[in-house]
Amino acid sequence: MAEKYFFIETFGCQMNEHDSEMLAGALTAAGWDETSCPEQADLLLVNTCCVRDSAEKKIYGKLGEYKRYKRCRPGMVIAVAGCLAGKEGDRLLARFDFVDLVITNENAEKLPALAEEAAVRRRRRAEVAGRPFAESPLARRRRSNVTAWVAISRGCDNFCSYCIVPYVRGREVSRRIDSVVSEIASLVAGGIREVTLLGQNVNSFGRDNGETFGQLLTAIEERTSLQRLRFMTSHPRDFSPDIIDRLAASSIAGRHIHLPVQAGSDRILAAMNRGYTVAHYEAIIGRIREKLPGFAVTTDIIVGFPGESEEDFAATLALVERLRFDAAFTFLYSPRSRTPAASRPDQIDPATRKERLNRLMAIQNRIADEINRTYVGKTVEVLVEKTVKKNRLTWQGRCSENKLVFWDGCHFWPDGEFVTVRVTSAKTWQLSGVVIGNG
Ligand code: 5AD
Ligand code: SF4
Repeated sequence: MAEKYFFIETFGCQMNEHDSEMLAGALTAAGWDETSCPEQADLLLVNTCCVRDSAEKKIYGKLGEYKRYKRCRPGMVIAVAGCLAGKEGDRLLARFDFVDLVITNENAEKLPALAEEAAVRRRRRAEVAGRPFAESPLARRRRSNVTAWVAISRGCDNFCSYCIVPYVRGREVSRRIDSVVSEIASLVAGGIREVTLLGQNVNSFGRDNGETFGQLLTAIEERTSLQRLRFMTSHPRDFSPDIIDRLAASSIAGRHIHLPVQAGSDRILAAMNRGYTVAHYEAIIGRIREKLPGFAVTTDIIVGFPGESEEDFAATLALVERLRFDAAFTFLYSPRSRTPAASRPDQIDPATRKERLNRLMAIQNRIADEINRTYVGKTVEVLVEKTVKKNRLTWQGRCSENKLVFWDGCHFWPDGEFVTVRVTSAKTWQLSGVVIGNG
């Protein structure tokens, strides 16, 4: 059989990155080889995101680039996978005559056959009807041999009024604890040191099976020899005190929690259909600070949701000042088709949205700087991930608090080693230091 090469480019969240490992796994099992040169690919696949209009625009730009590759290599199959495939379906085929295949990640199993069909018979097709699956039957082609993602649920039932995810990824289904534990055990046997559990809302894991996220955390700790465990994304409505207690008792939990607040005003939280109040969110953070001292807390915030008054926005700024997040991922509200918020008449004008985002980012960046500066002189436990070559040899890893840490030196640190780093300088998004021990 002649060699066939695929190239995958991924946009969006960690779940999408993980899905790309699954798409690559399916292709590899069917005899395809991966190439790092998009120009040389027989199958050029973009795994897409559509959470905001800006993400969608980026992908349309990419498709323009792919079109040029195809001009030089007319036999090439161009496939659009992922969330934009779910949103647009066969409209993508109509709009882009050089796109051969549109496929949601829920149909990953069919990818090799459909890619083959597109290559051989030049049949163009959209395969977007599949439902989320709890257990993926597909092997993964993992990108790291030190850290791994493990999906514990797929889909989303939350229906936040701004969010397109439930429409493009479908309803939530959870895996069983036994299955997650055995996947992690085999990853650990293969050398993986750190696992990040993934789900749109990890805290509602097991609701469909009578199991809980807390039980899952304990089972992983008791039944595997994993060294570091992380998870995302949490939802404040489902983040129970039991989870905090189990994290406090855990010796493997990474000292970091990502808990999106989205807004600091009860009126806006209600309009977003988030299912909690500011007071509830603050009570969780209070409990985290009390029972999990030193844990880093990060969040997501949307600015300019329809109807957001200057007073609502001031409440978000005040919340950010009070809670002092290690980092906040801040987003301009983007109207998404099919979502209730998009059809509200009280949309905030783009200039006001942008101006508010800038004010929020200035405050948050100052706070992140201040927090990171308190690390200078302290030591952190870092899992070595890779070397990055700048002008000299620099190593990169993440500390337990999930901050990126860099250090220089000619000593060779193998990937997967845990090292103790004394922090010597700090920026908004990273720490630098020197290694003072390992093991
Ligand atoms: N506009 C802006 N941000 C959004 N997010 C989700 N939907 C939208 C939207 N329509 C943000 C939320 C979520 C993160 C992944 O993306 O903050 O937590
Ligand atoms: Fe991930 Fe949402 Fe983007 Fe899909 S739309 S890739 S679920 S962030």
